[in-house]
Amino acid sequence: MRTSVYIAVSADGFIARQNGDLDWLPGADGSDPDSIEDYGYKEFSASTDVLVMGRLSFEKILTFGEWPYKDKKVVVLSSKPDNIPQALKDFVQWKNSSPPDLIKELSLQGFNHVYVDGGKTIQGFLFNGLVQQIILTKIPVLIGEGIPLFGPLAGDVLLKHIKTQSYPSGFVQTHYEVL
Ligand SMILES: NC(=O)c1ccc[n+]([C@@H]2O[C@H](COP(=O)([O-])OP(=O)(O)OC[C@H]3O[C@@H](n4cnc5c(N)ncnc54)[C@H](OP(=O)(O)O)[C@@H]3O)[C@@H](O)[C@H]2O)c1
Repeated sequence: MRTSVYIAVSADGFIARQNGDLDWLPGADGSDPDSIEDYGYKEFSASTDVLVMGRLSFEKILTFGEWPYKDKKVVVLSSKPDNIPQALKDFVQWKNSSPPDLIKELSLQGFNHVYVDGGKTIQGFLFNGLVQQIILTKIPVLIGEGIPLFGPLAGDVLLKHIKTQSYPSGFVQTHYEVL
C-alpha cells in the first residue's frame, strides 16, 4: 500500500485562502478541462485507485458542480454525520477513521495506491508516518494568509528530492519520496 499527496500551494505555503477560496489557483475549479498542460495530474491520478479527502475539501468540490471522480472510489473523512448528496452515494463513502485504521482497511479491500487530499487530512497521514510520496506544485503567488498545507509533526520528516520541473506558467513542481 502506497499513499501519495499531489497538491498545489501558494509560494508562501497555503492551499486555500482562510475562507477556502481557490481564486489564486488557476484552473482549480476544472473550468478549463481542455487545457493541454495538466502538470502530470491525469497520470498521477490514474496511478491511484482510491482517493481519501477531508470533509472540507469534499464540500469545496461539491461547489464546482459535476462530480469529477466518478471512476474512483472516494472516502470522505469526517467525525460528523454522513452528508453525501443522494446522487453521489454510489461513488463516495463517508468515514470516521484514524489514518492507520483506514489504511489497514483499504489494504485489506485490495487497494494499492491512496491519493490523500485536504490540508488537515494530509497532516494526519503525515503525523502517522503514512505518506510515501509528495508531489508539490508551487504557484508563483503570495496570498499572505490561508489554510496551511503542513502542520505539527511527531518528529522531523526527511524527504528525498526526486525531481523538480518548472513550467512556462511559472508553476514549479517538485516530487519527493518520504524517507
Ligand atoms: N491547493 C490545492 O491543491 C487543494 C487541494 C485540496 C484541498 N484544497 C482546499 O483546502 C481546503 C480544505 O483543507 P482543510 O485543511 O481545511 O481541510 P480538509 O483536510 O479537507 O478537511 C478537514 C476535515 O476532514 C475531517 N477529517 C480529517 N481527518 C480525519 C480523521 N482522521 N477522522 C475524521 N475526520 C477527519 C474533519 O472533518 P469534521 O470536521 O467533519 O470532523 C476535518 O475537519 C479547501 O478550501 C479545499 O478547496 C486545496
